[in-house]
Amino acid sequence: MKGVVLAGGLGTRLSPLTRVTNKHLLPVYNKPMIFYPIQTLVDAGISEIMIVTGGNNAGEFLRLIGNGEEFGLRHMNYTYQKREGGIADALALTKHFVGNDKVVVILGDNFIQGSIKKAVEDFETQPKGAKIFLKEVPNPKEFGVAVLNGKQVSRIIEKPKDPPTNLAVIGIYMYDSDVFDICDTLVPSDRGELEITDVNNEYIRRGVMTYEVIQGWWADCGSFEALLRSNLLVARENGIEV
Ligand code: G1P
Repeated sequence: MKGVVLAGGLGTRLSPLTRVTNKHLLPVYNKPMIFYPIQTLVDAGISEIMIVTGGNNAGEFLRLIGNGEEFGLRHMNYTYQKREGGIADALALTKHFVGNDKVVVILGDNFIQGSIKKAVEDFETQPKGAKIFLKEVPNPKEFGVAVLNGKQVSRIIEKPKDPPTNLAVIGIYMYDSDVFDICDTLVPSDRGELEITDVNNEYIRRGVMTYEVIQGWWADCGSFEALLRSNLLVARENGIEV
C-alpha cells in the first residue's frame, strides 16, 4: 500500500499566516503541521510515501523533510501541483507513483489521536473499492457529511447548508487504483475544484465503499479556530496543560 500526503493549496482561509508560507509548514504545538500526517502513515506501516505540494514555498518541504530519515524512512517522493485544482486534482498527480497498488491518502492538515493501522490492514484484504473514516462533529456544515443506510454509506454531501447527520468525512481516504480513472471523469464544483466527495460518491454508487467511525479526537486546520484547536489537542496529548 502506498501513502500520499496532500499539502498544496494557497491556504487562503488562513491568510495572512499563509501569505509567505505554505499552510502545512505552520506550527502545530512543537512540529510543522505536515509531520503529523506523515507520522500517521508511518505508524500504519506505510513506508512508500509521496507528498503533493504546490503554492507558496513548495521547495521548503524538501529542506524540512528530506528523505524522511526523521520518520525512519529511506526515501521520500515529491510532486508539484501547478494549479489550485482541489484534492482530487492533487491526488491525480500521484497516478504514476501508486500504479496498480492501493493508496492511503491523507490531507496534510488533518490530525487524529488514534492509529489507522488496523483499518489499513482491513483495507488490504478488501477485494476492491474504497474506505473512509467518519467522526461525529458539532459543526457538520464545514465538512463532507455522510448519510448512512444500515452498514452502508448511501451518500456524502459536501458542506451541506442543512446537514442530514453530524457525521463528518475526515481527510483520510483509502482507494484502489480505480481512483485515477474516477478522477479523470470529474468536473469542477461550484468552488472550481475537483472534489474528493465526488470520488467517494462514485465508489458508493459502485457499491464498493466501506467506512469506519473513529474513536479518538480528529482535527483539521481549515480555519483559525480549527488551527488553534489542533494546537491545543496536540499539546494536551503531549501532557502540556493549556
Ligand atoms: C475537505 C473535503 C471535506 C472534508 C474535509 C476534511 O474540505 O472536501 O469533504 O470533510 O476536507 O478536512 P476542504 O478542507 O477542502 O474545505
